[in-house]
Amino acid sequence: VSYDGSCGKRQRLLVVANRLPVSAKRTGENTWSLEMSPGGLVSGLLGVADEFETKWVGWPGVDVYDAAEKNALSKSLAEMKCIPVFLEEVFDQYYNGYCNGVLWPILHHMGLPQEDHNDTNKTLQTQYDAYKKANRMFLDVIIENYEEGDLVWIHDYHLMFLPQYLKEHNNKIKIGWFLHSPFPSSEVFKTLPSRSELLRSVLAADLLGFHTYDFASHFERTCTRILGVEGTHEGIVDHGKATRVAVFPIGIDPNRFIKACALPEVRQQMTELKERFAGKKVILGVDRLDMIKGIPQKFLGFEKFLEENMDWRDKVVLVQIAVPTRNNVPEYRKVKTQVHGLVGRINGRFGSVSSLPIHHLDCSVDFNFLCALYAIADVMLVTSLRDGMNLVSYEFIACQEAKKGVLVLSEFAGAAQSLGAGAILVNPWDVTEVSSAIKEALNMPLEEREKRHRVNFQYVKTHSAKKWGNDFISELHTFSESEMKSKKI
Ligand code: F6P
Repeated sequence: VSYDGSCGKRQRLLVVANRLPVSAKRTGENTWSLEMSPGGLVSGLLGVADEFETKWVGWPGVDVYDAAEKNALSKSLAEMKCIPVFLEEVFDQYYNGYCNGVLWPILHHMGLPQEDHNDTNKTLQTQYDAYKKANRMFLDVIIENYEEGDLVWIHDYHLMFLPQYLKEHNNKIKIGWFLHSPFPSSEVFKTLPSRSELLRSVLAADLLGFHTYDFASHFERTCTRILGVEGTHEGIVDHGKATRVAVFPIGIDPNRFIKACALPEVRQQMTELKERFAGKKVILGVDRLDMIKGIPQKFLGFEKFLEENMDWRDKVVLVQIAVPTRNNVPEYRKVKTQVHGLVGRINGRFGSVSSLPIHHLDCSVDFNFLCALYAIADVMLVTSLRDGMNLVSYEFIACQEAKKGVLVLSEFAGAAQSLGAGAILVNPWDVTEVSSAIKEALNMPLEEREKRHRVNFQYVKTHSAKKWGNDFISELHTFSESEMKSKKI
């Protein structure tokens, strides 16, 4: 990655994602307080911050209808290099409907939802139309802010039409698109009515990135089978247009977690937690309350473990942080009810007046407290049914330098391909296997735990979000279609 050379001006990078990396709160009439949220994308761009002048384009996460309010918010956001896309009129059908009710389950191998033909506002067609409209609203904002030579990096399944819309507007714009979720087998993607349009549109980009080799090859095979295009491990050629497809596994900012664990406040919280759970081993779960995270499967595995291991019943506790998410999508409400039912049943069966086997919290927790929880846990239990990467596993490892706890990880999380060497891998659908993995993790000798932790800690340290962002942007920056074609892929 290098400077563009002209008058010392830095090359610009437009990062486009459904959600801006800020949380906005109204503090009065036309006044807002804004806070940057240090998630994966923000960390990912740390590595290119010196070389590129980055601007963010996305939905600000709040409903704003009034023009004066929009204006005030846009001005405040501009100070944080953020440009808002106001989606109010299409938001429900676009975000709750097509993005999270249709694409999300398909991408995670869960199939299409049953269509409700009684409600004309909620048909697949109306949601699809809203999705396209929202993508056009993003396009309009990008066109207004684009300067010649800008690189455009589009993120995720919310914006699959944007590469094509942008190229139709200006074929010279260099565009990268990264999918943060898995890409499914062609047999699953084939069921989507608009499958060809979505694939063709994504192929309009220059560089497509996926977390794992499996997701990238599912994508290539899906393109070959549905569109009949040529594909190899280098990329895809469609009607003479070459698109590079490559693997970029995301990571975290490990130092943020390592440093937090050394803070006096966090050490105090660790002491309190250890006292609270004295005499017990702590199994930890941290997930968004999403059906893909397999929280019911986790509880069923834990229930089986308690059933079969009477001697462990008073000596272990499962702390589950279930962060509320996408509450307006019916499937998310269903999984919440199911999870609550299981917590009640298991605590009813195995609890006593003084102790409960599951501590379930429907909320997010403060960053420092989260680090304290990661640091004192003996076992981290991740049972995703399918997951893009699962950075919670990385965060746990970053906080475990002292304890050397054990990661039990679903083989269906992208992270299984990077942390598989140090983790105990499980099929989350197999309750017996989950139960045995819990037992193995709780009984694992220190020497073995140290060995496994070392491998994973080294990986988490070196494969950071910063490296991920740097690798993707370097490849996009230097990408040349003619060079790729000359390789005769
Ligand atoms: O993994 C996909 C993803 O969209 C992430 O980019 C994001 O952090 C997470 O899901 C939560 O998404 P939402 O914006 O819907 O809360």
